[in-house]
Amino acid sequence: MSTLRWGVLGTARVIRHLVPVLHDQPRARLVAIASRDAARAVECAHTWQIPEAVHGYAALLARDDIDAVYLPLPNALHAPWVIAAAAAGKHVLCEKPLGVTPEEVDRMQTAAMSHRVVVTEGLMYRHEPLTAEVCHRLAGGAVGRVHGIVSGFTYHRTRPDDVRLSAALGGGALFDVGVYPVSYACLLAQHAPEAATATAMLGLEGVDDMCQAALRFPGETLASITAGFRAATHTWLTVLGSEGTLEVPEPFKPGPQAVITTIRDGQKQDDVVTGSPRLFDRMVADFTAAVIDGTPPVVTLDDSRRTAEALALIRTAAGLR
Ligand SMILES: NC(=O)c1ccc[n+]([C@@H]2O[C@H](COP(=O)([O-])OP(=O)(O)OC[C@H]3O[C@@H](n4cnc5c(N)ncnc54)[C@H](OP(=O)(O)O)[C@@H]3O)[C@@H](O)[C@H]2O)c1
Repeated sequence: MSTLRWGVLGTARVIRHLVPVLHDQPRARLVAIASRDAARAVECAHTWQIPEAVHGYAALLARDDIDAVYLPLPNALHAPWVIAAAAAGKHVLCEKPLGVTPEEVDRMQTAAMSHRVVVTEGLMYRHEPLTAEVCHRLAGGAVGRVHGIVSGFTYHRTRPDDVRLSAALGGGALFDVGVYPVSYACLLAQHAPEAATATAMLGLEGVDDMCQAALRFPGETLASITAGFRAATHTWLTVLGSEGTLEVPEPFKPGPQAVITTIRDGQKQDDVVTGSPRLFDRMVADFTAAVIDGTPPVVTLDDSRRTAEALALIRTAAGLR
């Protein structure tokens, strides 16, 4: 296979980031988009210059001119449609969080293995040079032994019909933006947390609008995580080491010129890391390489399992159903 033929499941808003990248990716060809509503599929295909509009996700999965699907459905629908896509022999790039429980991730892993397809969670930051540089510096002892990770992602959510307000569809701030700092903390700790305390404020719809968690990882590392819909847009990552501190103001959606600040021995040093002009570029290129060239996926299903375990611990500690 030299070109990956793509289908998209659902007419989600987030496809505005993905579709231009698929159109430009030399080893990708965007074939079709499916919607629950036939007219919406046609309209979206027209808007995004996608050759074919398909009525229903199952109809798209049944086509033999599609090798891979991008899956940006509401969070609680990730697992059933990833499993259906894998059973139809399609590789899947699924939006975050891959699963809303660890057991869902296990079922997706089983489906991916049984049907020999690549399934990976779409976390753009994991593909960016900034993240590799942060990991490289920490592994090289830039701040000594890591004991604290302080990280969060908030924005002021205002749309009243947002799927993020539906508990049944896997809504809430923790699943939506909390997945970024939680997965990052697991990446730096190279482990799922072993314990959590957490608290959350619920909105009128009953999903968490703000969630704050303290995580304990094996190896004497603690993390403080914030996810929120009520505070203005803000992201942060601070790593507290025995010999210094590392700060990353744009850890999850870095711009093309992202900054890492290292503070050590009273000296502060800012370094700029050059990243992608568009955040989905490297993620799509890496996914394509995993399918066509057999290179290991950047975000493995074990990574997603670890993230799902951490999210489950936090939800239980915060009393979220
Ligand atoms: N990586 C990122 O930067 C990023 C950014 C935003 C969102 N996301 C992720 O992408 C996913 C979608 O988010 P979004 O904000 O783009 O969602 P959205 O605009 O609300 O779209 C969700 C789509 O899912 C389909 N759908 C199927 N069943 C549905 C149901 N019961 N209710 C509502 N929609 C249903 C709909 O498509 P049809 O009706 O056409 O079938 C709808 O267009 C989420 O997992 C989110 O976490 C990622």
